[in-house]
Amino acid sequence: MTDTTSRNPRDTLDVSALRHPDSLKWTLYAEDVIPMWVADMDYPVAPPIMAALRERLEQGLGYAQLRGDRRLTSALSAKLAAQGLTDLPDDGVTFLPGVVPGIYAAVHALTSPGEPVVTMTPVYHPFHLAITQLGRRVAGVPLRDAEQGYEINWAAMDAASRGSRLLLLCHPHNPTGRVWTAEELRRLRDLVLARDLFVMSDELHADLRFTGEPFEAFAADPRVQSRTITLTGPCKAFNTAGLGIGAMISHNAALLGRVRGAAGGLMGHESALSITMWRAALAEGGPWLEETLAYLQDNRDFLSAYLREHLPWVRFHVPEATYLAWLDLRAHPRAGDIQAFLLEEARVAIHDGPLFAPEGFGAQYQGFIRLNFATSRELLREALDRMAAALRRDQPA
Ligand SMILES: Cc1ncc(COP(=O)(O)O)c(C=O)c1O
Repeated sequence: MTDTTSRNPRDTLDVSALRHPDSLKWTLYAEDVIPMWVADMDYPVAPPIMAALRERLEQGLGYAQLRGDRRLTSALSAKLAAQGLTDLPDDGVTFLPGVVPGIYAAVHALTSPGEPVVTMTPVYHPFHLAITQLGRRVAGVPLRDAEQGYEINWAAMDAASRGSRLLLLCHPHNPTGRVWTAEELRRLRDLVLARDLFVMSDELHADLRFTGEPFEAFAADPRVQSRTITLTGPCKAFNTAGLGIGAMISHNAALLGRVRGAAGGLMGHESALSITMWRAALAEGGPWLEETLAYLQDNRDFLSAYLREHLPWVRFHVPEATYLAWLDLRAHPRAGDIQAFLLEEARVAIHDGPLFAPEGFGAQYQGFIRLNFATSRELLREALDRMAAALRRDQPA
C-alpha cells in the first residue's frame, strides 16, 4: 500500500465544516452518524476549480453560452476522443443540468409506455426510477456473482432484450465497480445489434478507474454509434454534484436531437458556474484527480484488507472503479434489516441493497449494502471499527 497520508488534505477533514446545513450527505442523519451513503466525496474541491469559480463570480451571473459553450465542447470532445469517441459531428454534444435528466429523456424518447427497458441489476436507482416513473417496465438482468467478480448473464440478457428497444448501461457500473472489458463490450455490442436496441450508456464514473487501462466508451465501436447516446459529467470525479451539469453525446445527431427534444423546455439549462467548473476541471483538474484516485485506491485497499481480516464472512469483489463498495452481508443474522441495524448499532449510514433493484424486486439484494469510502482514512477506519463491533455482537453462523 502506498503511503499518501502525509499532509494530504484528504486526511485532515474537518467534520464540523463538512456538516454545514446545505450538505445533504452530512445532515440527513444525526450528528453522531458517519455518512457513507450518497455518492459525494468528503474532499475539498480542486484548487484550480475554486479559482475559476471565484473569477467567474466577479464577472457577474448573466446567461452563459446556453447554445453549448464552445470552449467546453472542444475540451470535452478531446477527452471523449481519447476514450474512442472520435469524429463526433458538430452537433454531437449537448449539455444538460445533470446526467439523470438525460436518463429520463432517453427512456422517454426511445421507448413507449408499457415497454420493457433492459438493464443489469443491481444498478444506480434512478435507472429504475426513470423506467417506472415514465410507465415503462424494468427488464432487469441480475449480474452473476462469480469467483473473480460480477459477470454479465448473457443468456438472460439475450432473453430480456427480445421485445425491448433500449438498453440502459452503466459503465463503469454503479454499485459493483465493474469496468466492462473490451470483450464484454464487444459482446454487448453484438447483442444490441442482433436485437436492434438503442443504448444509453452512462459513463459518469469513467474517470474513477483503478485499472490503469485506457477507458473504452461503449460507442467507441462504429458499429453501434448510430444507436448510442452516451452520458457523462464532471460531478463524480470532481465532487461537484451541487453545481449540476452533464453532457449527452452521440455520433447520430438526429438521435440526439430526438432525445433532447423529447424533454423540450422541461429540461432547463446548465448553469453558468457549472460550465466554468467543468472547463476548469478539464483544463487543470488532472493532477488533483490523480491524487484523489491514488487516495481512493489506498482507501479501497485498506477497506478490502480490513474486511478480510475482521469480517471475513462478508462477500465482496474489489471494485475496479468508483469509491463505492458493494458488500454482501447476507450471512449475518441481521441481514433482513441491515441498514437500520448499522444505523442504530454502529451509527454508520449506508445505502441499502434493495434500493438498487426495481421496486418489488429488492428482496434479492436485501442484506447487501453500498458503502461510500471517499472519506479520510481515519473516518473510514472509524466507520469500519464501529460496523465490525456491532456486527460481531451478533456473529454470523
Ligand atoms: C451512474 C450515475 N449516473 C448519474 C448520477 C447522477 O448524476 P447527476 O447528479 O449529474 O444527475 C450518478 C450519481 O451518483 C451515478 O452514479
